[in-house]
Amino acid sequence: MHAWLCTDPTGVDALQWQELPTPQPGAGQVLVAIRAASLNFPDLLIVQNKYQIKPPLPFVPGAEYAGVVQALGEDVTNLQLGQHVACLSGTGGFGTHTLAPAALCLPLPGAFPFEDAAAFIMTYATSHHALIDRGQLQAGETLLVLGAAGGVGTAAIQIAKAQGARVIAAASSEEKCALCKSIGADAVINYSTQDLREQLKALTAGKGPDVIYDPVGGALAEPALRSIAWRGRYLVVGFAAGPIPALPFNLALLKGAAIVGVFWGEYARREPQANAAMMLALAQWYAQGKIKPVIDSTLPMAELKAAYARMGARDVKGKLVLVN
Ligand SMILES: NC(=O)c1ccc[n+]([C@@H]2O[C@H](COP(=O)([O-])OP(=O)(O)OC[C@H]3O[C@@H](n4cnc5c(N)ncnc54)[C@H](OP(=O)(O)O)[C@@H]3O)[C@@H](O)[C@H]2O)c1
Repeated sequence: MHAWLCTDPTGVDALQWQELPTPQPGAGQVLVAIRAASLNFPDLLIVQNKYQIKPPLPFVPGAEYAGVVQALGEDVTNLQLGQHVACLSGTGGFGTHTLAPAALCLPLPGAFPFEDAAAFIMTYATSHHALIDRGQLQAGETLLVLGAAGGVGTAAIQIAKAQGARVIAAASSEEKCALCKSIGADAVINYSTQDLREQLKALTAGKGPDVIYDPVGGALAEPALRSIAWRGRYLVVGFAAGPIPALPFNLALLKGAAIVGVFWGEYARREPQANAAMMLALAQWYAQGKIKPVIDSTLPMAELKAAYARMGARDVKGKLVLVN
């Protein structure tokens, strides 16, 4: 097997494509031949030692992947040889094979392509947990999505539309705004050229968005929170821009608003039954055509560094998928 090995978590340049012995699955594990793996923002942080989870060295990055079960650990009963699975195990995806915990492998129905499956779990689970559970987004409410053309952003647009909400998508370029419109956003704001607060006022008749989905942070957070509607919910999802905003508490008081943290990985760990029910609901929405991963492009696994460079340069619309 081959994999991108991180021996020195100083950044993407230090990753090396290496031949490794193909491992045999131990108890509770399966060997997966990876067909597709997608790039998520945490994959960029983890190779720089900036993510909250710091795997022991060396490790193979790639949180999320889909493929075919090639060998079973002795006590694995929930999966079969040849089964198509998707898995989010945190590491291991950027290679040709990996050992996956059997408990984390989701069996795929026949009609689920590997590319879609590899780009599904992290973004849709995060956005569904954020909007429906933490944000209590209701049909008819208005949602603002920041960084709306990114991985979790595009999933948030589709989930909010499936929920019957009105979506204002905000992003940094005309191309990104056009992509957001094409997947269902009702209105768009280009925050590189337009004033976020003025546009939100105009688009909501002065009321402001009921729910704000923020995976970006940085300088956008304060003007967004200042615009929120009475009884609004501000969802703290991530800090792709870098700086973690420090916001004045009086803004929450003045709007009777809630600032709500979202940490899907921890939710899945602490509340596995609720998470499993959510994944089932998402799989049904996929089968009904209500949601579908937006794939920017598909690259050979060997071109991982080019994929990382595009993500770091804010050049990705939807998801990048690496294939074997
Ligand atoms: N809380 C959770 O449970 C959870 C789960 C998954 C991911 N996340 C977080 O959510 C965030 C987004 O993840 P993602 O996978 O959707 O990433 P992504 O596809 O790269 O999208 C991030 C978006 O952030 C914007 N951005 C602004 N400044 C940026 C910068 N300096 N570098 C890169 N992007 C920048 C970009 O949109 P514009 O160019 O339009 O501004 C980009 O489209 C990350 O912080 C990630 O860690 C949180």
